[in-house]
Parts: sequence; structure tokens; C-alpha cells
Amino acid sequence: MTRKKIVAGNWKMNGSLETNERLLDGVLAEIESENALVIVAPPFTYLSQVSGLVKGTGVSLAAQNASQYLSGAYTGETSLTMLKDLSVEYVLVGHSERRTYYGETDHVVAEKTKAILESGLTPILCIGESLEERQAEQTLVVCANQINAVLNEIGVSSFAKVVVAYEPVWAIGTGLSATAQQAQDVHEFVRKHIATQNAEIAEKVQILYGGSVKANNSEELFSMPDIDGALVGGASLIVEEFVGIIKSAG
Ligand code: 13P
Repeated sequence: MTRKKIVAGNWKMNGSLETNERLLDGVLAEIESENALVIVAPPFTYLSQVSGLVKGTGVSLAAQNASQYLSGAYTGETSLTMLKDLSVEYVLVGHSERRTYYGETDHVVAEKTKAILESGLTPILCIGESLEERQAEQTLVVCANQINAVLNEIGVSSFAKVVVAYEPVWAIGTGLSATAQQAQDVHEFVRKHIATQNAEIAEKVQILYGGSVKANNSEELFSMPDIDGALVGGASLIVEEFVGIIKSAG
């Protein structure tokens, strides 16, 4: 089956009112009739601005995080209802930076994924191994465990609405992308792992690759049968790079 490609830009903690507008103006001017679904994930403070800028353009909006709780005394948190107010459609969950710096466990990630689905938004579930885990040949075990935590919480039928992003931690922000074959091997494993519970759903799940994706390596990555797009960090902040990646998605 053909799965639609997704190119999502995770801006992380970058941007300003001025640079966001310049970046989006540049990107939107170049990508009118592309086949890939383009998503941008600005910081919370700019969701409102970016929501206005992408309205009617076909570009979708993602948040980089969300609370698993509906509302109440959770200082500093942002609820899914608030995100929906700003026309957010996707939410990143389990990014390795959240897992590493903010202590998000597999259990929290599973709870958040469930809450995102219940709110009617689409989770982009990030998984991936550290360098030590890869060197210890634990890559597939780590990815399976991260997927299982979510599968156990939401059930395989709900997994049809989850987008997975495989982001090996050693490739994030390092300039050292996984090779297309290394990424394909993990993507194929993840799909087969989901297929052990439901083959039809496994075929439909879009699995993105993230970790030093640039305009000069995206085409090869996208040529792999189980790589359905990219979650892009640094290169999503540079017009020519992000546009190049989008165009290479066909
Ligand atoms: P880089 O593309 O900067 O390596 O970041 C990847 C990433 O973490 C996207 O979520």
C-alpha cells in the first residue's frame, strides 16, 4: 500500500515572531503543489501566530508536548483542549529530549498518547535508542519496549491513528544521520512488531525517520519502503533545507 509521506519540522526551543514569519513565508512560497503532508511544530508561545500564518495553506500545526491531564492545578502545563483552540492537529510525544531532560517515562508517554487520541488529535510518538544501547545491540529491544508501553495502554486498534517517529538519539542534532538502510531496518522491525498484533493496521501506520535529516540525505531515506517521511529538527529552521526535504518526498 502507499502511505502518504509526512515532513514535519520540530522547531524545538527556537524562533521569534520575526523569524517565524520569515521562515514560513519562504517555505510557503515554494511548496504549493507538493504531495507530502507538511507539519510544523513551533514552541507553545508561537502556536497562535503560526496557526494564523498556515491557515488555508495545507500546512498542519503540531505542538511539541501536551499535558496528559484535562485541566486544573498543573502549573506551567498546556492542555489538549487549549491546543485544539489554536487549530493544532498533531502533538509530539516521547521526544528523546523530553524523555532525557524532563524525565518522561514510557508510562507517561503512554498516558499522553492516550490523552492525545481521546482529544481527537494525532500523536507523533517518538522512539529510539541511545548510542550505548545501539552499541550493546539493544536497538530493537528498546524500540519494541517503547512501542509496547503505548500499545498496552491504548490497544492496537487505536494505534492506527498514531504516527511513529524513529529518532535514534545518537543521530539527533549531531549531523550523523542513520544510514537509509539502518533506518529502514528499524522501521521494518517496528512495522512487523505492530503486525504481530494487527497486520492491517501495521501496513497503515506512518513511520517517520528523524535525526540529522537534511536536503541532501532525505531522498535516499524516503526511497526506503518503510520510511514514510521525516521529523526534522535543525534543517526545518532553514528555508532551502526544509523545502528541499519536502520536495524530495515527492
Ligand atoms: P535534528 O534534525 O536537528 O537532528 O533533530 C531531529 C529531531 O529531534 C526532530 O524531532
